[in-house]
Amino acid sequence: QAQLHLVRNLNKLQMGKHIIEPWYFSPYPHEFADLDMVYIDEFCLSYFSSKKAFERHRHKCELRHPPGNEIYRDDFVSFFEVDGRRQRTWCRNLCLLSKLFLDHKTLYYDVDPFLFYCMVTRDEHGCHLVGYFSKEKDSAEGYNLACILTLPQYQRQGLGRLLIAFSYELSKREGKLGSPEKPLSDLGLLGYRQYWKEVLIELLSDPARLPPPGSASHTPTIAEIASLTSMTEKDVHEQLEVLKLLRYHKGQWIIVVREELLEWQEKRRAKEKEKGARRIDPSKLQWKPPV
Ligand code: COA
Ligand code: NA
Repeated sequence: QAQLHLVRNLNKLQMGKHIIEPWYFSPYPHEFADLDMVYIDEFCLSYFSSKKAFERHRHKCELRHPPGNEIYRDDFVSFFEVDGRRQRTWCRNLCLLSKLFLDHKTLYYDVDPFLFYCMVTRDEHGCHLVGYFSKEKDSAEGYNLACILTLPQYQRQGLGRLLIAFSYELSKREGKLGSPEKPLSDLGLLGYRQYWKEVLIELLSDPARLPPPGSASHTPTIAEIASLTSMTEKDVHEQLEVLKLLRYHKGQWIIVVREELLEWQEKRRAKEKEKGARRIDPSKLQWKPPV
């Protein structure tokens, strides 16, 4: 029975100017399974079984951006905050669409407890969704992200990194530490590992950004790193271990930045300069934690 759910059911999607091949099963209506092409309105995320029905809809549909508040805008992207309770249909459509690229997560029909942070690029036609993450309004486990997706046509361009960075900016604004919901998919883990590595190396190689050392040791504590990055202490500790940066010295654990990682960072910086670095600018976030 469980096996059935692993079988991919849709053949192809047309979304905006892109044709996309789904990766996994998603519970779209049965009659969509045998079609050559499913048409998705890239703004309202409604789905259609024929081009004709889709085009009829396009003439009427006026939505040109995710149905929420624009809380961030820079030269490259905007973020909209969409409330699952107020925009149930849109958020359910988003979950249906993202399930096509998610293997393991349960699909949330109950979107009410979530906020959806939707990243778009803007042009004269409107705001085009490129990715999003969802976040529980009230996470008992302290998760700052439930589900993350970069639409496949936009993957491997550094957008996942922006989504992750944004989720930590929200946590910083809340004055909280946060961590993504477990388990992470393979791709999710790769994305997070890369982000955490960048953030930790950047911090550890720049003493100016660290609080003045209170003790004789200039090594920041895990708690200090957590409070500067909004990563949980557990995630900081684990990543320092993964990066082999912890050494036992005179009866205590200290952080030692290996030369190899500084070189890695130099290379990354050079690459960023060449390509034009895309980063989240916290001063452009117009947002207060929802009460
Ligand atoms: N193979 C190897 N490494 C990969 C990878 C892949 N296919 N995709 C991402 N990474 C790693 C790389 O280290 C990459 O950095 P680099 O390109 O500088 O080497 C880093 O992740 C960040 O890549 P980025 O381009 O910012 O990520 P993305 O926009 O492709 O999005 C995900 C990453 C996870 C959001 C995207 O793969 C996705 O939507 N996957 C499907 C949904 C999913 O599994 N979500 C997570 C579980 S909730
Ligand atoms: Na990338």
